[in-house]
Amino acid sequence: DDADAGGLRTPIVAVLGHVDHGKTSLLDKIRGSAVTAGESGAITQHIGSTAVPLDVISSMAGDLVDPTDFDLPGLLFIDTPGHHSFSTLRSRGGALADIAILVVDVNDGFQPQTMEAIDILKRTQTPFIVAANKIDTVPGWNPNEGEPVRVSKEKQSDRVQGDLDEKLYEIIGQLSDNGFSADMYWRVQDFQNNIGVVPVSAETGEGVPDLLTVMMGLSQRYLKEEMSIDVGGPGVGTVLEVTDARGFGTTVDAVVYDGTISEDDEIVVGGLDGPIVTEVRALLKPQPLAEIRTEKQFERVESVAAADGVKIAAPDLDDAMAGAPVRVVRDRDVDEVILEVEEELAGF
Ligand code: GTP
Ligand code: MG
Repeated sequence: DDADAGGLRTPIVAVLGHVDHGKTSLLDKIRGSAVTAGESGAITQHIGSTAVPLDVISSMAGDLVDPTDFDLPGLLFIDTPGHHSFSTLRSRGGALADIAILVVDVNDGFQPQTMEAIDILKRTQTPFIVAANKIDTVPGWNPNEGEPVRVSKEKQSDRVQGDLDEKLYEIIGQLSDNGFSADMYWRVQDFQNNIGVVPVSAETGEGVPDLLTVMMGLSQRYLKEEMSIDVGGPGVGTVLEVTDARGFGTTVDAVVYDGTISEDDEIVVGGLDGPIVTEVRALLKPQPLAEIRTEKQFERVESVAAADGVKIAAPDLDDAMAGAPVRVVRDRDVDEVILEVEEELAGF
C-alpha cells in the first residue's frame, strides 16, 4: 500500500457546511465521478470517506502541484450531511478530521449549519479553509472549466469581478465576526493563524486546482509531523456507520487513522452494551476513488493501513455503535484493549 511510504499517513479532511452548499458536488468533482452521480443534488444522509491519491490530486491541480514536492500519500475526504437533523454525523466528521474544508455558498453566505460547523472546528481545534462555492452563479460569469480561479476571475468583466469580490468580502466579514482573521487565500502567508478563502465552482471545476493546492500545501507544512505513524502497529479507527452488506451480514464502515488492520485480526469495537470482541472476517474496500459506502464493486483486501476507509465484516457486530472506536488487539492483552475501548465509550 502506498500509505507505508516513509510512515506518513494520509491526512483526513472533513468537508463541512450548510445543506445544499455543494459539499458532495465538490467531492464528486475531485473524484471526477460527477457523471456516475453519487448523490449530489440529493440530501446527504450519511457520512462517507473517499481516498484521493496524490497523483490524482496533482493531475487535477495541473501546474500548481508538483507531486515531487510532497511526501504525503494524498488526502482522505470525509463527506458530511449539512441538513440540521444530522448534527451527530457532522460532529463525528469534524472530530476525525486533521484539517477541514468549510463549504459556503457565495450567494447564501453563513447559515445555521455553517455556524454549527464553525463551532465543531473551534471545539476540535481543526485548521480549516473556506471554499466559497458556486462562483459560476454570479450573473454574467463566463465559465473556464477546471481553471485556477485567479486566472478565470481575471477573464471576467469588471462588473462580474466586483460582484464576486463583494460576496467574498461578506464571507470574510462573517468569519471575522466569528473571531477568525481571514482573507483571500492568495494573500494568506500563515495558514495556521489566518483562514484562506478559496473561490470555487463544483459545477465548472474553477478553483478546484487552487483548493487542492492549498490543502496539500497546508497538510505538508503543518501536519507532516502528526502524520508520521507506526504504520505496522495495531490498527485504530472510528466507526462511521453500521450497515448491512449482502453476503456479510452486519458490517461497520470505519476510518482507520493509525496502524494497520488485517484479515483475521482480533478487534475490539465499541457497542451499545460495551466493547465487542470479535475477529475480522473480511475487509472490503470500494473501487479506487469511490466512496466507502458505495455498495457496488467492493474489493476484498488483506489489510488496510492508515489513513483509509474500510468496511469491516466480522461476527457479532449487530450492536456496534457509530462513532465508537475500533482497535486491533494484535500482540497486546485483550483485556487492556477492552479497557481502552470502555474508557473511550465512557466519553459518549
Ligand atoms: P447536503 O449533503 O445535503 O448537505 O448538500 P451538499 O452540500 O452536499 O450539496 P450538493 O453537492 O448536494 O449540491 C446541492 C445543489 O447545488 C445541487 O443541485 C448541485 O448541483 C448544486 N451545486 C453544487 N455546487 C454548485 C456549483 O458550484 N455551481 C452550481 N451552479 N450549482 C452547484
Ligand atoms: Mg452532500
